[in-house]
Amino acid sequence: MKNPYRPMLTTIEKITIENEARDLKTFRLAFSNGSEANGFRYRCGQFAELTVFGVGECPIGIASSPMEEGILEFTVKRYPDGLVTNALHNCRLGDSIGVRGPLGNSFPMERLEGSDIVVIGGGFAFTTLRSTIRYMLHETNRAKFGKLTLVCGARNPGELLYKDELKQWEARQDIETHITVDEGDEHWKGLQGFVPAILEQVAPSPEGAIALVCGPPIMLKYTFPVLTKLGFQPSEVVTSLEMRMKCGIGLCGRCNIGSKYICRDGPVFTYEELQALPPEL
Ligand SMILES: Cc1cc2nc3c(=O)[nH]c(=O)nc-3n(C[C@H](O)[C@H](O)[C@H](O)COP(=O)(O)OP(=O)(O)OC[C@H]3O[C@@H](n4cnc5c(N)ncnc54)[C@H](O)[C@@H]3O)c2cc1C
Ligand code: FES
Repeated sequence: MKNPYRPMLTTIEKITIENEARDLKTFRLAFSNGSEANGFRYRCGQFAELTVFGVGECPIGIASSPMEEGILEFTVKRYPDGLVTNALHNCRLGDSIGVRGPLGNSFPMERLEGSDIVVIGGGFAFTTLRSTIRYMLHETNRAKFGKLTLVCGARNPGELLYKDELKQWEARQDIETHITVDEGDEHWKGLQGFVPAILEQVAPSPEGAIALVCGPPIMLKYTFPVLTKLGFQPSEVVTSLEMRMKCGIGLCGRCNIGSKYICRDGPVFTYEELQALPPEL
């Protein structure tokens, strides 16, 4: 039987520095073993445990889209005192990284088909939403979804993730984008304001729509009431939790809230499911 704790070997193929503070990097990894590469079939919203050998491992959401055969990307925020995230940021092209996964449940892509989708993201939690947007915009998938609306933000223009991609999405006719920063600078010509406030101004219709929301806890706290005010039912709001984990496969008991293991039963939950959990978040 395959050991679920044994990471698969990958090599760093590309590193993109995402922000001015240089504490957000996207790593493109290539599997060393062809059959492991073929076996790594993931869905939008899943995560993997990334290992820096000799240091440790940590859970990171998959930022690439399952539609892009052979491409596997993760965007990692370096915590000043973070063991693994610092070690990852010190890695260079060609270094070996371990990958365990794909883990967790996923965004309910089949259930989303036929609906209008409102994607709401903030800060570096935008990673799995990027995967989802790329999936929905893919030429073989776009017709399966209704109107796509994106409201996303960051603290300032330099902190926006995937800047080139945001520009490409802004230029498209088949996704409506509202990109905002808490505080602009002399070059910023876009929206300014917190994500929940911009969402309230944009006021997407809840009719036949589902909202996908990922962001820092403070953004989620103010976004859920706005969605409720706009008329979205808690069952039509989907989010992803990023809490501390260890094994990532439902065995160690480190990530439970009530009877749910976030690593195994999540990290994706509807707002309705979250409301039914004990208030430990
Ligand atoms: C399902 C899931 C998906 C994730 N996706 C991403 C992602 O796409 N990109 C990304 O950069 N990060 C993501 N994270 C968070 C990431 O796992 C943590 O940043 C990482 O574990 C920190 O490891 P470390 O060894 O560097 O820090 P540690 O040495 O373990 O801790 C350093 C500091 O960070 C704090 N910390 C560590 N983990 C968390 C956490 N989960 N929540 C709050 N504080 C924490 C600690 O309290 C401590 O102060 C995800 C987490 C989960 C559970
Ligand atoms: S991290 Fe071990 S049970 Fe979830």
